[in-house]
Amino acid sequence: MRLLKGQRAAVNLLVWNVALAVLISPVLCDDDDDDDDSEDIMTVCQEEDKDLRVTCPLRAKPNYHTEYEFSMSKGSKEIIINTNVSGTMPEPKFRHNTRVEQLEPYGFRLTMMRFTLTENTTFMCKVTKAEMRLFVELDSVQACSAISLFLQSYPWLLTLLLPFGIIQLMEAL
Ligand SMILES: *[C@@H]1O[C@H](CO)[C@@H](O)[C@H](O)[C@H]1NC(C)=O
Ligand SMILES: *[C@@H]1O[C@H](CO)[C@@H](O)[C@H](O)[C@H]1NC(C)=O
Repeated sequence: MRLLKGQRAAVNLLVWNVALAVLISPVLCDDDDDDDDSEDIMTVCQEEDKDLRVTCPLRAKPNYHTEYEFSMSKGSKEIIINTNVSGTMPEPKFRHNTRVEQLEPYGFRLTMMRFTLTENTTFMCKVTKAEMRLFVELDSVQACSAISLFLQSYPWLLTLLLPFGIIQLMEAL
């Protein structure tokens, strides 16, 4: 079926609007929920040098000692990877090859040097009284570069797509 020019423009406009809405909404949501850490996601990714990086976007609670604990569970066994909770020790094999950094404005990042998963694993992190967990399927660990590239792409995608959306709009009118 042949569409008239006006109809074609209207369809194009609809497609662009949907595309723009999909692209813009996560960005807008991020801004809206700045004060609400429940919207932040925990991520696990592999660096090019094979370090495994676990980010824990939990805010430290005021009026508490800030303490963190990263652990993982394989089946029913829970293994502490790195912690500064007093009186708690990490698994000996992780004592010298992991480190934790504090992120700005909040959150913690665990780096496990040259570590690759050998089975499905659930990663957990605790900060003060809050806890997050993420199930990571073996063979589905993302590359860290892919994650940051994706996030960096948003402004570019928007500046690329916005003019097209406006052109379509002008054609439709
Ligand atoms: C644990 O680390 C946090 C953040 O670096 C720090 O503020 C806190 O004092 C540390 N806690 C202990 C018990 O060392
Ligand atoms: C890992 O988890 C996936 C999804 O739950 C499951 O399909 C798969 O069989 C699991 N693999 C192993 C080795 O347990």
